[in-house]
Amino acid sequence: MRKPFIAGNWKMNTDGHSGPELVRAIGKGLAQVDMSKVDVAVIPPFVYLTQIITAAKASRIAVGAQDIFYEQKGAFTGEISANMIKDVGCNYCLCGHSERRHVIGEGDELINKKVHAAINGGLLPILCIGELLEEREANRTDQVIERQVKKGFANLSMEKARAVTLAYEPVWAIGTGRTATPQQAQEVHAMIRGLVAELYDKSLADDMRIQYGGSVKPDNAKELMEKEDIDGLLVGGASLKADDFLAIIKASIAA
Ligand code: 13P
Repeated sequence: MRKPFIAGNWKMNTDGHSGPELVRAIGKGLAQVDMSKVDVAVIPPFVYLTQIITAAKASRIAVGAQDIFYEQKGAFTGEISANMIKDVGCNYCLCGHSERRHVIGEGDELINKKVHAAINGGLLPILCIGELLEEREANRTDQVIERQVKKGFANLSMEKARAVTLAYEPVWAIGTGRTATPQQAQEVHAMIRGLVAELYDKSLADDMRIQYGGSVKPDNAKELMEKEDIDGLLVGGASLKADDFLAIIKASIAA
């Protein structure tokens, strides 16, 4: 059985006051939740990581970074290494989030380097994949996902691949209020699991958690999580409201 994994990607939101307040409110709400049944993480902007880790201390909320650079140290102005993220107390980092792919212009090779760097630096990467609307409409979803999965896992040993969580986020569903239907998401998740089984083996594929992301809200979380191959949720907008994020976590456990 795969343990549900719910993560809140705060993107470029919150500040030094609202972030700690948000994580404390989530922590308070989780006091009544059986945390053996769910993993929860928040993913704030870099500059607030230390503050959020401190504010999350009393809870079972893990903290992740939204990105890393693939080198360990050196003359890379503006970049942050996996070692630094690990050093401040993070467990997770996103790699290849759709906004980094499509707003910043990151490609599969760069993202693969980041996945390697994350694992080598002791972090658990959440590798994000997903097709654009025009790719879906041209019936190219499978092809795009296959490329992103194969390139994302390139040269990663079986042992290292076990550290990865996948997040399927169809780009057309992010921030649009247009969620993939549970059936649409399930179809892609099952396909992704099949690809991981081909790349590695069935046991690794069966253990790998695949989150869904894209307009997840309290009222659609349960039906998404009820699908066999949806093991968690990567939540954007709704993770900025403690009540909504808590409702999503509770709905996931109930599914
Ligand atoms: P929304 O939940 O705001 O659609 O964002 C999804 C996302 O990109 C999470 O990483």
